[in-house]
Amino acid sequence: MKEQLEKIYANATVDLEKAQTISDIEEIRAKYLSRKGEFNEIKKNLKNLSDEDKRVVGSLANEITQKLESSLKAKYEEFYKKELNEKLQKERIDITLPGKYIPHGKVHPLTATTNEIVAIFQSLGFSVVPDEHSPEVETEYYNFDMLNVPKDHPARDVQDTFYTEIAKNVVLRSQTSNSQIRAMEGQNPPIRVVAPGRVYRNENINARKNNFFHQIEGLYVDKNITFGDLKGVLNEFIRLYFGASRPTRFRSSFFPFTEPSAEIDVQCIMCEGKGCRTCSGTGWLEILGAGMVDPNVLRNVGIDPDVYSGFAFGMGVERLSMLKYAIDDIRLFFNNDERFLKQF
Ligand code: DAH
Repeated sequence: MKEQLEKIYANATVDLEKAQTISDIEEIRAKYLSRKGEFNEIKKNLKNLSDEDKRVVGSLANEITQKLESSLKAKYEEFYKKELNEKLQKERIDITLPGKYIPHGKVHPLTATTNEIVAIFQSLGFSVVPDEHSPEVETEYYNFDMLNVPKDHPARDVQDTFYTEIAKNVVLRSQTSNSQIRAMEGQNPPIRVVAPGRVYRNENINARKNNFFHQIEGLYVDKNITFGDLKGVLNEFIRLYFGASRPTRFRSSFFPFTEPSAEIDVQCIMCEGKGCRTCSGTGWLEILGAGMVDPNVLRNVGIDPDVYSGFAFGMGVERLSMLKYAIDDIRLFFNNDERFLKQF
């Protein structure tokens, strides 16, 4: 039995020398040391020996299995380190390589400008009208009649306004002022709202004009609203949007739905007032029309002009964006050239 043990040990040593990998080691362990392994088979026969032989052979068997166990362990650790190193080498990452390019979508500059303007008016206590009070496809009734625009006003002319074939009198709105009427029809004063949206005009397209563009309408109706309130709110808006140092001017003007009416110009950012292509040589760009709501308009929606008064304004989003970011051509907003859009 002693010889048998030594022979198995010798075989195990040869096997171990031939081993190359962790899984070879595991095979050897199974072959010799597991419950069904060769040493256990021998240990099972110990019971047939004399007590004296049992002791000698038993302790030899233990000694040999322990020796084998520890050389297996040593080999295992050696292979483990080797295999781990190989794996680390193979999976090594070169952190100096450039990263993968992941394109980023961005908010369109007109959307960003609209959001910024709306946020300013929200901070001044205005809320945004619901979409259904600001439709782009509109009847002449809301786009013109209710706003006190005479039947023969040139703005109604097909040369300016896009008439649809949906029905007679259905137009693409030429101004966001339609939302004023819808807001007042749906609500009693006090009313303090803004309405951003797209408008359409049959223009010849150039650096300053496109046949659709964007406006933000504003309306404030309550008791005792004065022209001083109009000036205060719009000056505060300009200060918040452009900063205090941007030259602006108030001019008197005319709109059928306001009396008195005014326009605000902002100095051209491209030429700093010297005159250029963008401002057609004047040094100024008009950004908004405004005025005290005409009593006829209040009467049209059933608000008593002897009790209530209000002011309204409508501003051009493209103009405001151009004047802030020095964009010299309105068409850039609509060409969707990535080189332009990426800059915002
Ligand atoms: N709707 C006018 C336009 O498109 C702008 C405007 C002027 C709006 C005066 C107003 C206003 O609300 O009071 O030219």
